[in-house]
Amino acid sequence: MVLLEFTVNGVPHRVDTDPEQPLLWLLREQLQLTGTKFGCGMGLCGACTVHIDGAPMRSCTLPAVAAQGRVVTTIEGIGVANGELHPVQSAWLLMNVPQCGYCQSGQVMSAVALLNSNPKPSDDDIDNAMSGNLCRCGTYPRIRAAIHLAAS
Ligand code: FES
Repeated sequence: MVLLEFTVNGVPHRVDTDPEQPLLWLLREQLQLTGTKFGCGMGLCGACTVHIDGAPMRSCTLPAVAAQGRVVTTIEGIGVANGELHPVQSAWLLMNVPQCGYCQSGQVMSAVALLNSNPKPSDDDIDNAMSGNLCRCGTYPRIRAAIHLAAS
């Protein structure tokens, strides 16, 4: 076990943990941040996407020690402090994006990262940025529409 110090959703944490376990399990089981989902566990589906220093990362393949000294943001941390939704979350609701919903927190995290780096993405920009986030319900057209709405 190792003492890791990092910030999650604006809150400093000191956590005694297995540094080699996936960051996903540290977040879900030790910090009770269960909005980040386990899908494939192999970096292939994007359900576990979180931001590390603002960049989208797959937390299922990232060792917990990678969070040392970093700023981690999960789906629980992207809204406004007073409980308001992030504009991407609002667009997701307006466009009725989710079907089963399981992959959607990862989808939203990738969409937020895209819009932070590219506030007016084209369809190709969206498809490229979101290509690592799989949705077995096939909500891709609504995801694209919601990203355009959030960007408008
Ligand atoms: Fe991490 Fe699928 S659960 S990419």
